[in-house]
Amino acid sequence: MSAAHHNQNPSREYFSCNDIHSYYGESYIVQGVSFTIREGEILALLGRNGAGKSSTLRTISRLDEPELQQGEIWLDGKPLHEMKSHEAAVAGVGMVPEDRRIIPGLTVEENIKLAQIVEPVGWSIEQIYELFPRLGERRKQEGVTLSGGEQQMLAIGRALSRDIKLLLLDEPYEGLAPVIVQEIEKTLQYIREQGMTTIIVEQNAVAALKLADRAVILDTGQLVYEGSAQEVLENEQLRHEYLAI
Ligand SMILES: Nc1ncnc2c1ncn2[C@@H]1O[C@H](COP(=O)(O)OP(=O)(O)OP(=O)(O)O)[C@@H](O)[C@H]1O
Ligand SMILES: [Mg+2]
Repeated sequence: MSAAHHNQNPSREYFSCNDIHSYYGESYIVQGVSFTIREGEILALLGRNGAGKSSTLRTISRLDEPELQQGEIWLDGKPLHEMKSHEAAVAGVGMVPEDRRIIPGLTVEENIKLAQIVEPVGWSIEQIYELFPRLGERRKQEGVTLSGGEQQMLAIGRALSRDIKLLLLDEPYEGLAPVIVQEIEKTLQYIREQGMTTIIVEQNAVAALKLADRAVILDTGQLVYEGSAQEVLENEQLRHEYLAI
């Protein structure tokens, strides 16, 4: 998030996926999803178990599976749909997967440094420790021995250590105690104040909606709602039908 990368016109379309369709083998999962995000916005991507939320994030980050077979994905003028995952990472996609993917055998600091091999570098290690003091205290500890909450912090810090334009969070609060959820919520708010554009997937829809500007709801791989986060919080029918809250 260096000044050089800061967009002067925050209202222009920054991210879009246009009619994306993706498959695990023969299984047709993401079935024609389209949405846009403005720079600096947080989008909550919601829906029941199996709705296709993780698959949508995986499609955007251009992992091999699910395979994108139709549609376009654009980030700050760059065609992610034409890229492999490592190219999408260089183009500015920062994925924090559900399983966090901390590298075994490496310390906290080595996990961050490894991510910084991908140029250009984003936040410095010191800035990440300022954001998550627990990580600084444990910089020499093996990453996989951290608590669940600390591993989530490391996964987020590691994403920010590259100069990303879009942060993808898959269930960042999953399995964490409420006090840790609050701590991570606060840092996500701070990250938002720094202008980061973010997609958050969460089973804890209320927590995601509190953080988000807008929301998209998926059902069986299709978009069933797009609107303001506030609207979803206020629409009982929508919450009941698609979110079970
Ligand atoms: N590797 C895979 N191979 C085949 N089908 C898969 C694979 N991964 C996911 N699916 C299927 O794709 C559909 C969407 O799954 P996805 O993980 O995207 O849902 P989700 O909305 O993230 O759900 P959850 O809230 O449970 O995490 C599900 O029916 C799932 O069984
Ligand atoms: Mg999922």
